[in-house]
Amino acid sequence: MIALERLSKSFNGIKVLDNLDIKFEEKEITVVIGRSGGGKSVMLKHIIGLIKPDSGKVLINDLDINSLKKKELNEIRKKFGMVFQDGALLDSLSVFENVAFPLRQHLKIHENDIKDKVNSILKDVGLEGQEQKMPSEISGGMRKRVGVARALILNPEIMLFDEPTSGLDPIMSDVINNLIIRMHDKFKFTGIIISHDIEAAYKTGDKIAMLYEGKIIEEGASGDFRNSKNPVVKQFVSGSMEGPISI
Ligand SMILES: Nc1ncnc2c1ncn2[C@@H]1O[C@H](COP(=O)(O)OP(=O)(O)O)[C@@H](O)[C@H]1O
Ligand SMILES: [Mg+2]
Repeated sequence: MIALERLSKSFNGIKVLDNLDIKFEEKEITVVIGRSGGGKSVMLKHIIGLIKPDSGKVLINDLDINSLKKKELNEIRKKFGMVFQDGALLDSLSVFENVAFPLRQHLKIHENDIKDKVNSILKDVGLEGQEQKMPSEISGGMRKRVGVARALILNPEIMLFDEPTSGLDPIMSDVINNLIIRMHDKFKFTGIIISHDIEAAYKTGDKIAMLYEGKIIEEGASGDFRNSKNPVVKQFVSGSMEGPISI
């Protein structure tokens, strides 16, 4: 359903993506791992058309999103829910209003229906009773959950998570990873998760792919990935200083 074909992108003469190829299977969760600064967020932003490639294609249901008119692109974007790395909550809005925001923007629905939908999704992510709090009044883990709830509120076919557990302690990270698994079971979206946490990748991913030097150098089912013979993957997975990855 989503494919990146020979995608290349440079910034200031530096190649970040270099003829990258990958397919994301429908209804699966694919975790893309890689080093910080390796181009993971850049790859994700190409998928929703926030960044345009220098060359190559972004195919969503066989449509190249960069050949679409603005209106068509907006239609495609409605299929997506995105959880941003920094949460990207609106600080001046309550938890409730942050989650209601996409509904108010995209759908003309009754206040009562908004209440029902928002309260239901907040319950799903374990934030019942927190509706009236402001983002500054809740913990980092809760803010991530608000971001997940907001991304899910339009029931998207595709969910993109940019480092959903960054900045969280291991216990709260596990809460978020379990939440993603639970929400995937319930809503059956196609999920793409960016992460540098290999254990989380094994736990949440149907498939794992590694981005390195602008390309996908290895991909496979969680179990296969663990046994990769690729020396770069082996070094990354073991977190070792020794190996082909220059530090
Ligand atoms: N809009 C931009 N303009 C210039 N350089 C950028 C831009 N976005 C990302 N980069 C650069 O591209 C590289 C990859 O960034 P990023 O995708 O954010 O890495 P990560 O894998 O940590 O998510 C970095 O060197 C970053 O500085
Ligand atoms: Mg990033």
